[in-house]
Amino acid sequence: MALKNIHSEYVAILDFGSQYTQLIARRVRECKIYSEIFPFNISLKKIIANKPKAIILSGGPATVTRDKSPTISKEILELGIPVLGICYGMQLMTKLFSGKVERSPNREYGDSKLILDKPDQLFSRLDNNLTVWMSHGDHVLKMPEGFEKIAHTRNSPLSAIRHKEKKLYGVQFHPEVVHTPQGLKIIDNFLKKICGCSADWTISSFIENSIKDIRKQVQNNRIICALSGGVDSSVLAMLLHKALGKKLTCVFVDNGLLRKDEAKQIIKRFKQNYRVNLIDIDATNDFLKKLKGVIDPEKKRRIIGKEFIRIFEKEAEKLGKIKFLAQGTLYPDVIESRSALGGPSATIKTHHNVGGLPKKMKFKLIEPFKFLFKDEVRKVGKELGLIESIISRQPFPGPGLAVRIIGEVTKERLKILREADARIQEEIKKEGLYREIWQSFGVLLPIKTVGVMGDERTYENVIAIRAVTSKDGMTADWVKLPFELLGRISNRIINEVKGVNRVVYDISSKPPATIEWE
Ligand code: XMP
Repeated sequence: MALKNIHSEYVAILDFGSQYTQLIARRVRECKIYSEIFPFNISLKKIIANKPKAIILSGGPATVTRDKSPTISKEILELGIPVLGICYGMQLMTKLFSGKVERSPNREYGDSKLILDKPDQLFSRLDNNLTVWMSHGDHVLKMPEGFEKIAHTRNSPLSAIRHKEKKLYGVQFHPEVVHTPQGLKIIDNFLKKICGCSADWTISSFIENSIKDIRKQVQNNRIICALSGGVDSSVLAMLLHKALGKKLTCVFVDNGLLRKDEAKQIIKRFKQNYRVNLIDIDATNDFLKKLKGVIDPEKKRRIIGKEFIRIFEKEAEKLGKIKFLAQGTLYPDVIESRSALGGPSATIKTHHNVGGLPKKMKFKLIEPFKFLFKDEVRKVGKELGLIESIISRQPFPGPGLAVRIIGEVTKERLKILREADARIQEEIKKEGLYREIWQSFGVLLPIKTVGVMGDERTYENVIAIRAVTSKDGMTADWVKLPFELLGRISNRIINEVKGVNRVVYDISSKPPATIEWE
């Protein structure tokens, strides 16, 4: 909780395990108020020490009708800090103030019309269409003490309740989801009209405060940062450069597994255009040597991760005494590693990101984005003047093309995939689809198939095209790319890339498939 000095006011969100908790945090930030998520069992002392302007209790999969359900100390509701309980949060407030919650025989799921019973600032400035989105199995049967009803729906007589003096509010619906069209306004009303938040948290105020904070921490020391060319590390380098100038050294390790021309572009952009102090190392041969004969994907990942750390450490040592290491850790990583109801919601693969921390090294860590979501990092990058092509870059795995070449990674196979992949990128960009697609790329398969070119039979490689939409990489759907576009990509690859005579399109979703082929 290092935030107090950075943010003038903030909202504490207590997480009861809802899949929408992160969404609540984002909505609050859209209202220009900083928010942070805490496990529901955060101590009263910590809450008091951090002085939130408001508390929001999230929804959650549990039921308060059970004895051992997640709960909070009632004192949290008596601190004089306004509280909004959403779904489970409302039911919990009800229970703590001696109301009654009952299991419904039928789950209410989907749209409902909210009918207002009493004027309240929570619903100020809303227009008539008060569709709200419900997803609950329990409902409030008996009003908690001191509360009154302010709205209902056909199926939920108590859909919104308040304790006027204590400024405690409960809503049975989910204002944080897009299916509640005026939900953001409801949250905004709660925060500004009921809690009196001044709403001064913006991306530029974040940058300004982070720069002050970074300068204060680093002082006259030096800091090192691994630049991969991806969104997070690029924005991080820009922010640190702005804060610290030449005290920052970025290290870019070209592992030889990047896309066509990417290494050249990254070096040129950061060295020449942004004048960042950058050391670039072409380690292609080191990586390829280590990967020789390796076909097991997890082994590839381990080798690449280890080799990256070895080279990074070697370079850092050459630089002499450096006290700090900057990393582009994002908020979802932080939240997922300490999920409210035990264990992260999902773990993907043993990822060895280029940002993987060299454990042996005695650096102090600086993680300026530890409390930001990805889209906020993009906004920071935009405000810092980073070009659009970096800001909107699709995610790219740390082990790069090594996990997109099924089987052994060799110089020749890398060349084939690079050239094919470049054509996929070009055509998808030309079609204007690049930004709405989560990831699009080529995969080089470990088989050869027969073809015919002119009068001759050929026996060449197969490229698979992969394009998926996704919100976070956890689940994904294959993109229905127009046939004409697929045709153009296929023609270009087969005509222009030597060594390929067949192109196929991957039409599997995740789950049960994964985004990458390895
Ligand atoms: P999968 O293939 O598991 O991928 O559906 C989910 C997301 O993670 C990326 N990915 C990786 N990222 N190191 C990374 O930094 C890795 O080893 C790795 N493997 C997969 C993948 O590109 C997708 O965005």
